[in-house]
Amino acid sequence: MDHFKRTHGTLHAEDVPLNAIAEEVGTPVYVYSQATLQRHARVFRDALGALDDPLVLFAVKANPNLAVLRVLQREGFGADVVSGGELRRALAAGMTPDKIVFSGVGKTRAELELGLDTGIAQFNIESGEEGRELAELAAARGTRARCALRINPDVDAGTHEKISTGKADNKFGVPLYRAAELFAELAALPGLALEGLAIHIGSQLADLAPLETAFAKIGRLLSELRDNGQTITRIDLGGGIGVPYKAGETYPSPAEYGAMVARVTRDWDVQLVFEPGRVIAGNAGVLLTRVIRVKRGLNNPFVIVDAAMNDLARPALYGAWHDFEAVSDTPDRMTANIVGPICETGDTFATDRDCPQLAAGDLAVFRTAGAYGATMASSYNSRGFVPEVLVSGSHFAVVADRIDAGAIMGAERVPDWLD
Ligand code: LLP
Repeated sequence: MDHFKRTHGTLHAEDVPLNAIAEEVGTPVYVYSQATLQRHARVFRDALGALDDPLVLFAVKANPNLAVLRVLQREGFGADVVSGGELRRALAAGMTPDKIVFSGVGKTRAELELGLDTGIAQFNIESGEEGRELAELAAARGTRARCALRINPDVDAGTHEKISTGKADNKFGVPLYRAAELFAELAALPGLALEGLAIHIGSQLADLAPLETAFAKIGRLLSELRDNGQTITRIDLGGGIGVPYKAGETYPSPAEYGAMVARVTRDWDVQLVFEPGRVIAGNAGVLLTRVIRVKRGLNNPFVIVDAAMNDLARPALYGAWHDFEAVSDTPDRMTANIVGPICETGDTFATDRDCPQLAAGDLAVFRTAGAYGATMASSYNSRGFVPEVLVSGSHFAVVADRIDAGAIMGAERVPDWLD
């Protein structure tokens, strides 16, 4: 459930009509609902109520905006980070190092050092090579890095291939068949406090079955490692729960997920760690856009909006569907291709889409844009970066400024030999 609702014929974010935001901030603009973020955070935590002291971390990559992170920090969330930049953001938002886990297959030496100096709760190590490097750096500092070994369970998450991470040929984690040997080797290094296992098999999962299969494999590995005399106190189950992108679609609820986790992990006797991203932020945001013009096409009219693939990359990258709605109610409908102004055909948000009758100047939104939206923007076609707005009740604030093409150009130089 989210807090984007129609009142008196106009789509609102909480109590704010979206046309008021468009007037004041311009379009395109990302709009987030604080109440929705809070609600999703609470529903997720409640779903884990049967577990003993779980550590819940927001996957910062889904929406790294500082204000969004602060909302979640106030809900008791920590952060799952995958770069030094994300780590700095989590700290700036007030998340404490004891609730920060550093994931990612390619942490640089500088990033490992930053994590050590910050004293984060856990590094999720993705290879023997990374573990040895981290051990050396920690030992040189006279400390031990708390870490978990990320396992690749070879489970097909049944999601888009570009966001599947748990198949044997994906770059993530270490294969199950090498896990026991590698765990023993790394656990013996003086620079590491290897206390856990981690897993994340993919994103936008429509079904809990692959997660359950993967968790069961981790459970068997846990027993094997303990039989070998290893100590394991934490298991990080990653993120991945999908959300509906089309009105009327149903996805497993956090409660169903929590019940499955409680059942599968009943005898594990560890602290569980969770890294949800999309399920918290996805439906808490929309991309608000204005129709530039409607152009006649061969089969369908083209509704050309002022947002483009550089602002919301998911349709171009994954063929993803985002519901498209007019801000002002209109009874008439049309079948259209919804496109942005960028000079490639890939800049298409929807083809043959049944949508409200729209004309130049009308406002519309792409729904479910709160996760993997603004954060994946680029400045392709020398378009700027879209601003972000946070709504709370009848208030709203710009929480990220528009960065125009001039500011981006300002960071570039022509070398003097070209004078
Ligand atoms: N933990 C790890 C280690 C991850 O790699 C991810 C997402 C998450 C947690 C959070 O997953 P979530 O709960 O959001 O599914 N750009 C793509 C999604 C990429 C997800 C990458 N990893 C998209 O727009 O669909």
